[in-house]
Amino acid sequence: MGIYEDKLSEKLSSAKWLVFFTGAGMSAESGVPTFRGEDGIWKKFSPRELANVDAFMNNPALVTEWYKHRRKIVRQTNPNAGHIAIAELERYFEVTVVTQNVDNLHSRAGSTKVYELHGNLEKNFCMDCGTRFDSGGVDTLPDIPRCGCGGLIRPDIVWFGENLPAEQFSKAELAIENCDILFIVGTSGIVFPAAHLPMNAKKLGKYLVEINPMESELSYYCDVVFRENAGKSLAAISKLAASLQA
Ligand code: OAD
Repeated sequence: MGIYEDKLSEKLSSAKWLVFFTGAGMSAESGVPTFRGEDGIWKKFSPRELANVDAFMNNPALVTEWYKHRRKIVRQTNPNAGHIAIAELERYFEVTVVTQNVDNLHSRAGSTKVYELHGNLEKNFCMDCGTRFDSGGVDTLPDIPRCGCGGLIRPDIVWFGENLPAEQFSKAELAIENCDILFIVGTSGIVFPAAHLPMNAKKLGKYLVEINPMESELSYYCDVVFRENAGKSLAAISKLAASLQA
């Protein structure tokens, strides 16, 4: 019996609702850099210089350019086997994705219920009037993009020191309260308040499964740990789910 059958068959057989809590490692195999790995984004750029509102107000052209650059990288990538497997699991279960990623890859893979805790690179809004803009339009604007009202247009990304989107967070909480299995995929689990979600799930007695080649801050809370890459593990789990339905 393989490790997936061994550790998950029983739980998957009776499960109705799966939640996937994902981080940058989920998209690593698509070629999107993580934040804290060897080639991680925060090894090359300082969050203080780029990912906070003061940085944007001091130098909106620089921060806008940086997000354009990240969008360009992400648009050249595709969902990997892991994103696709999560989307496929909707055939057999209620599936909710709660992601810290801003790369849109879960939605591009076909997942229909995705709560984005840290925003989305393809979305922007005017800081003065709140009008929303897709990045396609913003990328054609001058270096410092402005709304018709004159306000600065900023990426709809949660920067350091900012609150998480309340509605997405409470929907994520509700899904986790009601799920049968919480999969924690490719996150170091050190950024709060996002990391509270899996910790609270443990307090609620939920069954936690980690998929991460390295130990994380959340490993301790997990009932089962697969020290594998997301693509390989999730493809195997999707295959197992299909075989259990057959
Ligand atoms: P990190 O870069 O902190 O962690 C990435 C995790 O993915 C690590 O635990 C790796 O071991 C794991 N990993 C790497 N490759 C993997 C693979 N192929 N399959 C599975 N796991 C893999 O990224 P996050 O935990 O997402 O916030 O970081 C959380 C937040 O910190 C981000 O959302 C971002 C950042 O500051 C904001 O921008 C607000």
